[in-house]
Amino acid sequence: MNNRTLLQIAKEHMTPAYVYDLEKVREQITKLKNAFTYSRTRFLYAIKANFNPYLVKEIVKNGFGIDAVSPEEVECGILCGAECSSIMFTGNNMSNEDMKEVHRYGALLNIDSLSRLEKFGTFYPGSDVCIRFNPDIGAGNHKHNITGGEESKFGISHSQLQDVLDIINKYNLRLVGIHHHIGSGWLDVESPLNALEIILEVASIIPKLDFIDLGGGFGIPYKPDKEELDVNALGNQISEKFLGFCKNKDKELELRLEPGRYIVAQAGHLLVKVTTIKENPQGRIFVGVDSGMNHMIRVPLYDAYHRIINLSNQNGEQIAYDICGNVCESSDFFAKSRIISEIREGDILSIEDTGAYGFAMSSDYQLRSRPAEVIVDGNEIFLSRKRETLKHLLSKYERPTQSHQS
Ligand code: LLP
Repeated sequence: MNNRTLLQIAKEHMTPAYVYDLEKVREQITKLKNAFTYSRTRFLYAIKANFNPYLVKEIVKNGFGIDAVSPEEVECGILCGAECSSIMFTGNNMSNEDMKEVHRYGALLNIDSLSRLEKFGTFYPGSDVCIRFNPDIGAGNHKHNITGGEESKFGISHSQLQDVLDIINKYNLRLVGIHHHIGSGWLDVESPLNALEIILEVASIIPKLDFIDLGGGFGIPYKPDKEELDVNALGNQISEKFLGFCKNKDKELELRLEPGRYIVAQAGHLLVKVTTIKENPQGRIFVGVDSGMNHMIRVPLYDAYHRIINLSNQNGEQIAYDICGNVCESSDFFAKSRIISEIREGDILSIEDTGAYGFAMSSDYQLRSRPAEVIVDGNEIFLSRKRETLKHLLSKYERPTQSHQS
């Protein structure tokens, strides 16, 4: 999608607005599908990355199941057309209520503690189940995004396999799948391959399995100097190893993967308008925009880097700016000391690669409305979600605006 289209969208739909380019989503899907040559590969979309129903429907239409982490995500997946049998619920610290609700939907439960497995067995003896293991290997683009290893709250240690099998046998459960997710945003091929070795060892001890799920985590190069993940090398090597394992052990296993970010991140642009430019006596130039960490929290939370383009002045002088939001928090920045084409008040900036964990992690903090969401599908451009209003937000409360006088 070109920058002129983004500028037009900002004019028509105002700012702040998230824009999602469906063509980019399809391109990423194709790249992944082509990379994994193992014939029985199945992708589940990690809906947490972006739950916009239009995007989810498109991804489901392309053959993806859903990786869900809450009963609400399971239901959203179903509403967007996913078959219950293609949805897996990976619940962390799952409650009885979560467990029962998801089981009622008919989605498979991926269990990540011995205590929950015991409860699952008591409630649903004889049922199918998947187990999330912690392979003691973690990887990710920030320490908050690492989900394997000793300090991770996720999964059951692979060294506790025998305990798992004892509970499985006790309740006559059918262990149909095993799962791990080492973390999010890795760009190397080694970490997922090392973790694969461990889960294959676990798989070799389990007599009957339908699938092995290697989770998501496929990174994208947010920084201009980062190399893209070599998804073909990764796909080929995993596929080869997996096929070799299946042949060697005489098993016919499905390979499952749960990408989120890789599918939607680069399809998203957060359009914001410059409201204020302020230079302090030390020479720092603060560019204030009509959005903030309430709409996109990745920068303060993970020290993340997002490219920023001045759509209104693409060939101006290159100047260093601090790009900040309108939230009353000192950490409310989109970038610090970033060189960008000269910015003037009223200019429209595009914060790039914000399709994953952007809107999905937005909040009502300080009561500024969440951004609009606009979809671009080839020549078709439409408003997918209206910018919220205070009235809409307050309508969710009981007796929201009852005044003290009455
Ligand atoms: N599967 C499981 C079990 C997960 O926990 C996750 C992400 C995924 C798949 C998808 O990971 P992906 O392919 O999107 O990397 N808010 C953070 C990312 C947190 C990811 C949590 N789990 C961020 O903005 O970087």
